[in-house]
Amino acid sequence: MRWLLLPARAALLLSLVPWAAHAAVPTVEVSGTSIIGTTQASADNVTVEFFGGIPFAQPPIGELRFASPVEVDSLGVSTFNATAFGAPCVQPDVDGVSEDCLTLNVYRPSESLLSNETLAPVMLWIYGGGFAGGVTSVYTANNIIAQSVLRETPVLYVSINYRVGPFGFPQGTEAGQLGAVNLGLRDQLAAISWVQKHISAFGGDPTKITLFGQSAGSISIGHLLLNAGLENYGVRGVIMESGSAGTLPLFNASRRDLLWDAFAANVSTCAGVLRGSTFPCLRNASASDLLTSWESAISVFPDPFLFVPVLDGPTGLIPDLPSTQLAAGGIPKIPFIAGTVLDEGTAFVPQQLASITDLFNFVLDAVSPYPQTLTTPVQEDVVALLGLYSGDPDSDLDGSPFGTGNETFGAGAQYKLAAAMFGDMAFQAPRRAWMQAAAAAGVPAYGYLFADQNAAAADPSLGVHHGAEVPYVYEFSYVGAANPDSGLVARAMVDYWVSFVASGTPNDGKGLARTVWPQYESDNQVPIQFDTTNLTSGSSNGTFATIPDDYRAAPVSLLNSKAADFNQ
Ligand SMILES: *[C@@H]1O[C@H](CO)[C@@H](O)[C@H](O)[C@H]1NC(C)=O
Ligand SMILES: *[C@@H]1O[C@H](CO)[C@@H](O)[C@H](O)[C@H]1NC(C)=O
Ligand SMILES: *[C@@H]1O[C@H](CO)[C@@H](O)[C@H](O)[C@H]1NC(C)=O
Ligand SMILES: *[C@@H]1O[C@H](CO)[C@@H](O)[C@H](O)[C@H]1NC(C)=O
Ligand SMILES: *[C@@H]1O[C@H](CO)[C@@H](O)[C@H](O)[C@H]1NC(C)=O
Ligand SMILES: *[C@@H]1O[C@H](CO)[C@@H](O)[C@H](O)[C@H]1NC(C)=O
Ligand SMILES: *[C@@H]1O[C@H](CO)[C@@H](O)[C@H](O)[C@H]1NC(C)=O
Ligand SMILES: *[C@@H]1O[C@H](CO)[C@@H](O)[C@H](O)[C@H]1NC(C)=O
Ligand SMILES: *[C@@H]1O[C@H](CO)[C@@H](O)[C@H](O)[C@H]1NC(C)=O
Repeated sequence: MRWLLLPARAALLLSLVPWAAHAAVPTVEVSGTSIIGTTQASADNVTVEFFGGIPFAQPPIGELRFASPVEVDSLGVSTFNATAFGAPCVQPDVDGVSEDCLTLNVYRPSESLLSNETLAPVMLWIYGGGFAGGVTSVYTANNIIAQSVLRETPVLYVSINYRVGPFGFPQGTEAGQLGAVNLGLRDQLAAISWVQKHISAFGGDPTKITLFGQSAGSISIGHLLLNAGLENYGVRGVIMESGSAGTLPLFNASRRDLLWDAFAANVSTCAGVLRGSTFPCLRNASASDLLTSWESAISVFPDPFLFVPVLDGPTGLIPDLPSTQLAAGGIPKIPFIAGTVLDEGTAFVPQQLASITDLFNFVLDAVSPYPQTLTTPVQEDVVALLGLYSGDPDSDLDGSPFGTGNETFGAGAQYKLAAAMFGDMAFQAPRRAWMQAAAAAGVPAYGYLFADQNAAAADPSLGVHHGAEVPYVYEFSYVGAANPDSGLVARAMVDYWVSFVASGTPNDGKGLARTVWPQYESDNQVPIQFDTTNLTSGSSNGTFATIPDDYRAAPVSLLNSKAADFNQ
């Protein structure tokens, strides 16, 4: 078998390393280091091997705080204990965080289940969390790996950490001038590069990498797709769950000088620092002081997203607005799946919004960093946009959660309209624009709308909320235990995802019998709708409707024609 043919590995087995006697201890050789993983039984009795906490870059601490990641190719030790996850990156409300967090994890079918002749395709997960959080250990890939084996297209799964908040996305003129922006995106690229160089040692094919991610992970993938030359990293497909490059408005780093001023001044050891010379002091401060100051900025600034990707100029990672780039034909020929959930906006909108003024102010906070400046085009666009929603509280057009008629959930009078608008502005419109651009450029693309009402939150005012599809992708056994029909939806989704990873199309004919997912074409714009309504009770077939991509056509068209006004 291939592993044994590697001289280093062979030598290791012949030597008297204690665990060599236990064939069950998974071990992989990377650049002279034996990476020792662990074995886990998964659902369906498929044995899965796990290698966690593997560093792909130097710890971004000391002088490397606020600096681009420095890739590591060698771990510098003879054996590396990879039986556990590495620490999550520093973020609020999570235990055990560390600034030394640039690590990744690999899941694979046990060696005996992998082909000895061919390397397996690789799927690489980039977590969401608003660029302010994210923890890989909550995304366990055992089910995905098991299903990939049972459907006879085994894949490897990798999840990566990247810096978030002020550690990963510094703001302000100083950060912009030093090029110390979009660092979290650069972390992602460093991890992808590590995978390209080393995944073959795990049995993965470095030329068959598919990125997938949700929310901020999906937004990141959009930016990388437009600007990072992903085809040079062995990436041959991407799956974007609820996030496009244009989901969050983009500005120059200097637009958030006030935020960075306040953040720096609020670090107790840096109280007197001046704008333009904060980095030496901030690099010297403790990570926990930075975290405390970040938390206080969250409580003080009204913008829902603070430390996020920024425009970084012609030689940077985000040279221009995504809408401008798409209009200029900037979409690369990498096939993709892109989708949204039914009620994307609900989780982001304050429930108490009562008046049109409240609604207006909410939109303003969302589209413009503090201090908010109401430019004429944005003002006019929002007025025009409001005119395109019907104003009828019974209309499905106006109210998200959609399909809930005149139910107000005890929320303010403008809550449901605001949720519909925000969902369209941040998610539905950019997703549609992206797919239309892809179709025009001949890039294979597959769209979905996730609308399973069984995934709705316990709080009915949130509907089929942002993030609702994630358990379907990761935990179909859990989903199926609660509702067998939804479990079938979940299994079918994993089949489509794995099929796409393994073959480049979601329709490889393996796994569950399921609806053929039509490619999104200029003259056939039809996403698939993931819910239980078209399943036949008692059947094990994944049968889904395909729907015309024309829901809320008027507001979505307006948003897409004015995307640059909204800095998207
Ligand atoms: C897994 O193994 C257990 C115990 O041998 C068995 O009862 C069960 O049916 C198996 N499940 C599958 C999906 O093969
Ligand atoms: C590897 O690390 C885990 C905890 O992360 C520990 O329980 C285990 O004993 C370690 N194994 C070795 C061989 O050091
Ligand atoms: C690969 O080789 C090993 C050892 O020779 C064997 O146990 C395993 O069944 C083989 N796997 C496949 C898929 O052929
Ligand atoms: C952003 O910076 C670029 C140059 O770095 C400049 O051309 C552009 O005008 C700036 N945009 C804004 C809105 O300040
Ligand atoms: C940081 O900000 C919080 C909230 O505004 C304030 O209570 C605290 O005193 C500030 N700390 C420093 C060191 O400026
Ligand atoms: C770094 O911190 C130490 C002690 O906390 C202090 O003595 C030193 O002056 C600081 N250096 C800078 C550049 O702020
Ligand atoms: C809400 O709609 C239902 C029927 O769909 C109707 O019976 C009820 O009177 C309406 N409630 C209000 C407050 O308009
Ligand atoms: C399939 O789903 C579509 C869209 O939700 C719906 O219009 C249609 O009635 C469904 N068909 C069946 C047989 O349930
Ligand atoms: C399930 O799909 C298969 C293959 O497409 C088909 O032959 C079979 O009739 C379907 N079964 C049901 C119950 O729909």
